[in-house]
Amino acid sequence: MKSPLDQQDWDELKAAAVEVMRRAYAPYSHYPVGAAALVDDGRLVTGCNVENAAYGVVLCAECGLVSQLHASGGGRLTHFVCVNGDGEVIMPCGRCRQLLFEHGGRDLLVWTVSGVKPMSEVLPDAFGPDDLTSLAGAGTEGAR
Ligand code: THU
Repeated sequence: MKSPLDQQDWDELKAAAVEVMRRAYAPYSHYPVGAAALVDDGRLVTGCNVENAAYGVVLCAECGLVSQLHASGGGRLTHFVCVNGDGEVIMPCGRCRQLLFEHGGRDLLVWTVSGVKPMSEVLPDAFGPDDLTSLAGAGTEGAR
């Protein structure tokens, strides 16, 4: 893995997001999204949003990306970008910031609307897996 990426690498990652954005299923919002990320072993994973007639069932592009991450062997996300239908960089929604944090942690680099930032700035003071392990067993007394 190359880290930090140079601008050409970031542009290639964004191009992958634009390509998958074109396969989005967004007949309700008409707002296609494509997401692309690098994995710590150098793999590229992508995803597009998939909407549903029951609007709340929407799968954001990041959901598909994380599914592909695990379906293709797991690992940690290292670099991420998502784009809208015009190929412009957009911010991941709040729910998807949480998804990305789970699979990339504080150091995942995100191309944001205001430049490349670590997840620790995109989702400050995030709740995550460490919060659960630090209190493992707590709150289970009633189950005994
Ligand atoms: N969307 C994503 O796929 N990812 C985001 O981070 C922001 C929002 C999608 C969900 C919905 O299909 C459309 O964009 C409009 O909200």
